[in-house]
Amino acid sequence: MMRRILPLAFAAAGLLGGTPGAMAAGDAKAGESKNSMCIGCHNIPGYKSSFPSVYSVPMIVGQSPKYIESALQAYKKGDRSHPTMRAIAGSLSEQDMADLAAFYGAK
Ligand code: HEC
Repeated sequence: MMRRILPLAFAAAGLLGGTPGAMAAGDAKAGESKNSMCIGCHNIPGYKSSFPSVYSVPMIVGQSPKYIESALQAYKKGDRSHPTMRAIAGSLSEQDMADLAAFYGAK
């Protein structure tokens, strides 16, 4: 009995936790729960930080999920150099990025 249940449990854990190596499939619902650290700047539904007003933050809501995900990866890798976004993207896993991309892109 156990021998039949174990592989299933692993498969389920893989689905929930994201399988390392596999191309992460974005989950908009999961992304919603991760966006609390983004909304302060990428304000929803607005897209500019209210203070200081000159500090304009690009709108990411409605961007293509692919674009958002690759932008985050570029910040993490250092191909994009904005210091704040680099720090933030550096703390995100591939799965986080995919989820966030799905969440913002789905709007
Ligand atoms: C401290 C403010 C701040 C926070 C918090 C923040 N961002 Fe950003 N984000 C910015 C700024 C400013 C830019 C523009 C940087 C640049 O010019 O490269 C940016 C750029 C981006 C871009 C590229 C947009 C484009 O049009 O190229 C993406 C995608 C993005 N952020 C996603 C996120 C996500 C997802 C989070 C949360 C995990 C987040 N950001 C949190 C300020 C922030």
